[in-house]
Amino acid sequence: MRTILVTGGAGFIGSHVCERLLKRNDKVISVDNFDDYYDPRIKRANITECQKNSNYTLLEKDLVDYEALKQSVDSLEIDHILHLAARPGVIPSVQDPDATFRNNVIGTQSILRLCRNLEIDRLTLASSSSVYGSRTEGPFRETDNVSTPESPYAASKVMNEAMAHSYHKVYGMNINCLRFFTVYGPRQRPEMAIHTFIRRVLEENLLTVYGSPESARDYTFVDDIVNGILGAIDLDDGFHILNLGNSKPVSLGNLVDTILTKTNPNVEVKWLPGRVGDVPLTFADISKAKDLIGYDPTTNVETGIEKLLEWYKANSSLLNK
Ligand SMILES: NC(=O)c1ccc[n+]([C@@H]2O[C@H](COP(=O)([O-])OP(=O)(O)OC[C@H]3O[C@@H](n4cnc5c(N)ncnc54)[C@H](O)[C@@H]3O)[C@@H](O)[C@H]2O)c1
Repeated sequence: MRTILVTGGAGFIGSHVCERLLKRNDKVISVDNFDDYYDPRIKRANITECQKNSNYTLLEKDLVDYEALKQSVDSLEIDHILHLAARPGVIPSVQDPDATFRNNVIGTQSILRLCRNLEIDRLTLASSSSVYGSRTEGPFRETDNVSTPESPYAASKVMNEAMAHSYHKVYGMNINCLRFFTVYGPRQRPEMAIHTFIRRVLEENLLTVYGSPESARDYTFVDDIVNGILGAIDLDDGFHILNLGNSKPVSLGNLVDTILTKTNPNVEVKWLPGRVGDVPLTFADISKAKDLIGYDPTTNVETGIEKLLEWYKANSSLLNK
């Protein structure tokens, strides 16, 4: 049995990973500060299954407070840290870059410091497809240039990868940086596009969409992402950057059509120009993750949206308060 410390364990992706780690009999220490970036009651609901398991420990801590964090985990034997906690979101980072850099850069520095001081030499951290900047052609490969981030959020993830690489070089840590491509599914954050579209269509009967119908995203279902994360946690050798996407971009126009078909085809759609920070395309080359960890996403957008819709309807009283 291994002990995995998961930061951001109450969030969308983190809560799914914790459940899967517990299922395979790992011990989980989940660190989360339940910040109000979105309603903390949703994060509390995310972890109800985990809290039934005696191998699950919850620590309500802010990563930025390094001393408090260290004190709470000092005496624990930790085999691997999965670092998912962050201020996510491209557009919110344009509105509040300070919060992005505080949580993502200082928060990540706390984790690297913790690894060094507690001699934990295995770390997997969440990066993002946003590091690839604004591009019109794909697929995007891990070796591509990532020096032109389009938003503070993207910049914070480029920094995280560089910080991690320096710790690998200097202290010999084994580190995986996982570039997630637009993750969706049950528990998706309420401000993310698919969740917002579903809410507007079901609750408001009007859909405003920012961006061109031709712009496209490599939407990746959360269960596929979790498979990739578990594979990466088991990969303990050196420094790796891995794309975790679906490798099948879907245009915004097609995404909207799919949602309307499954909800209410009569809703009026209002298209507005894209916002600062938005990029025209994300498209993952996933061959490296396939080779190294057997990553093989299987959920298409139709099935994934149905599962998200099911969850949304079952939780609408919580989500619409
Ligand atoms: N969801 C996506 O499509 C996507 C895409 C690319 C990258 N990512 C990255 O994956 C990770 C998880 O994303 P998510 O969508 O699950 O987001 P989320 O907001 O649902 O989860 C993040 C969790 O981290 C916690 N947190 C934030 N700052 C913290 C701090 N300083 N100390 C302790 N806890 C803190 C939050 O309370 C939250 O529960 C993030 O690093 C995000 O940048 C997500």
